[in-house]
This record gives sequence, C-alpha cells and structure tokens, in this order.
Amino acid sequence: MKAVMLIGGEGTRLRPLTCNTTKAMVPILNKPFLEHAILYFKKHGIDDIILAMGYLPHSIKEHFGDGNHLGVSLTYVVEDAPLGTAGAVKNVEPFLDDRPFIVFNGDVITDIDLTKMVKRHNEVKPRATIALTSVENPNIYGVVETDASGLVKRFVEKPGWDEVTSNMVNAGIYVLEPEVMKYVPPSKFSMFENYLFPLLLERNEPILSYPAGGYWIDIGTPEKYLKVHHDLLMEWPDRGIRLEGKSELHRQTQIEGPVLIGEGCVISKGVHITGPAVLGPGCKIEEDVLLDKAVLWHGVKIGEGVRIKSCIICANSIIKQGCDVLENCVLGENVTIREDNAPAAGVRVWPEGF
Ligand code: GDD
Ligand code: MG
Repeated sequence: MKAVMLIGGEGTRLRPLTCNTTKAMVPILNKPFLEHAILYFKKHGIDDIILAMGYLPHSIKEHFGDGNHLGVSLTYVVEDAPLGTAGAVKNVEPFLDDRPFIVFNGDVITDIDLTKMVKRHNEVKPRATIALTSVENPNIYGVVETDASGLVKRFVEKPGWDEVTSNMVNAGIYVLEPEVMKYVPPSKFSMFENYLFPLLLERNEPILSYPAGGYWIDIGTPEKYLKVHHDLLMEWPDRGIRLEGKSELHRQTQIEGPVLIGEGCVISKGVHITGPAVLGPGCKIEEDVLLDKAVLWHGVKIGEGVRIKSCIICANSIIKQGCDVLENCVLGENVTIREDNAPAAGVRVWPEGF
C-alpha cells in the first residue's frame, strides 16, 4: 500500500520555527518530524511513501535520500506553486496504482491504528475513509458530522463557534480509492476539506468515518510543538535522563527527568534542568543556568545565570549572560539575545532579515 504525505505547507503558524526550516524538518525529540511520521507508517507495514512537497524541499531530500536507511522507499514530488491538499495528491497520481492509498497531513503526530483503519476501509469499501479524533477546540480544525452508521453527512472546515456541532474532527488521515481523484482537476489548487469531500457527498459517493482513539496532535503552532515534547517525554516509563552521545556534564549539575540531551553538549557547574526538556546536539549551557521545561535545538548557547522557562530556542541562538529570565518565549534560528534586547514573556523572536 502506498501513502502520500502532504508536506507542502509553509508552516506559517509555526513561525519562527519554520522561518528557515520546513515543518517536516522541525526537530521533535532531536529527530526531524518527518522521521517520526515515516516510522509510524513503517510500523503499519507501509514502506512506499510519496512526499508531496513545496516549501524548502532540498533539505528534506538531502537528509532522507531514497529512504533506504529507514527501510522505506521515498518518492519526492515538488509543486511549482502550492496546489492545496487535494491538488497536491492529484499531482502525484502518476506514482499511485489502482489500489487504495493513504493520505496523511504531514504535521500530525499520532498513534492512531492505521492497520485497523485500512482493514475497516477494505471491509466496508466506501470511496474514502477519514480518521476522526476528538478535540476541545474544533473551531481550528475540520468538523465532520456523521450518521448513526458512521457515514459522513457534512464537513465544516474551521467553523465559527456557533457552527460547531461536534467535537469530532478530521484527523488528516484518509484511505482513498484511486477513482475519487477523477474529481480533482489537474494543476489547479483544490482542497480535500472544502472541495473534494463535499463534492463526493453531493455525488452520493460514500465516505466512512473512522473514529480513532489514541494520541493525536497537529504540531501546527509553537504551543502544540512544546506540548508534543512534553507529552512524548512524559511517556518515558523511567522519566529519566537520556544522553544521545558523549556530552560534558559537570558533577555539580542537577537534572530532573525526563530530559533528552543531544550529543556534544557542555553543561557547566550549578546548572539546573527540569524536565520535560530537550537539548539539541552541541548546546553549551554556562554556569548556574536554570532550564525549566524548555526545548533547545542544536548549537544553542545560554550564558551564565540565565533562567529559561517553557521556551523554544531554535538552532544556534545565543542568550547572553545578564538576560535574567526568558519565559514562554519562542526564538527563531541564529537569534542573539543580550541584556538590552531580552524579550518579554510570551514574545516570539524572528531571525534577523526574515
Ligand atoms: N503538498 C502540499 N501542497 N501540501 C500542503 C499544501 C499544498 O498546497 N497545503 C497544505 N499542505 C500540507 C501541510 O504541509 C500540512 O501538512 C497539511 O497539508 C495540512 O495543512 P494545514 O495547513 O496544516 O491544515 P490545517 O491543520 O489548518 O487543517 C487540516 O488539518 C486538520 C488536522 O490537523 C485540515 O485537513 C483539517 O480539516 C484537519 O482537521
Ligand atoms: Mg495542520
């Protein structure tokens, strides 16, 4: 079975994380997001993955190559201009075959049982099966209304609160019969959510819902990005300290797990780290720094005595000594923070020139 992964969005809501890095390459527990998604597919026996891409595709190709090292085969298809979710799948149609295939929104971390979902699709044989997940804020997703037998009745994409009729939303995972793609015009922008799926309903083509339990999160915003780290780290049975390679940890440091430390970090005397937290490879943490529930990408430097609470700090950024506290801040890549430009709580700092 083949899968199409939609990774062509610009990840605007995730900025400044996505100012220089495409959403698929944003690290989650020190590994690109896409690697988590690929391993999820592989776990469900899907090893033929087509990547429908747009924004910054080169870094993805360079990193993943043909996918062999992860035990999968990757096909890259780059759009000249964004074609939308359905248009992007139409664009990869020459790489599909006459069997049902999977479409996956490339910004979802989940453990939804894909194997069971495909089995259900093959038993019922609708035109499409859509995984649903329950959320607290359906207004930022696509609400899917169903009848008692589980068939979809209506889609309402990003409804106003007064239009919200259900907390079951489109989880961004579909099993599609190849014939449905005949309704999608080639080389034209179109979306599944407000074009193809409503059109299928109009034509009485059955769409089945698959209400899925388990973990599901769309990492589309910095808040969600931090949350997915906290969720995944808190799942570690020992909630301990994991070192990915050799690092220098001073004897007089205090580290309370769960904490993941990338290779080549230097953690100085008097540093106090409270998990859930992640340090990317090559981070340098000076004396008496306090790091509380933070996610640091690679090469981040934190000056003596600085306190970092619930922040995301992207690659190679530097927080100089004298900055005191950074709380709930999100710093893009290569940002330098000195005492005189320290952001207030909750501020997002874009890299220079962006
Ligand atoms: N190739 C390609 N081309 N991919 C695209 C394009 C495009 O033009 N536009 C978006 N994508 C990719 C994004 O990179 C992302 O992985 C996925 O499609 C979904 O796009 P988002 O922009 O993240 O959509 P959303 O989160 O607002 O809403 C969608 O996902 C929700 C679940 O997370 C909808 O499908 C909702 O109905 C759904 O509830
Ligand atoms: Mg999304």
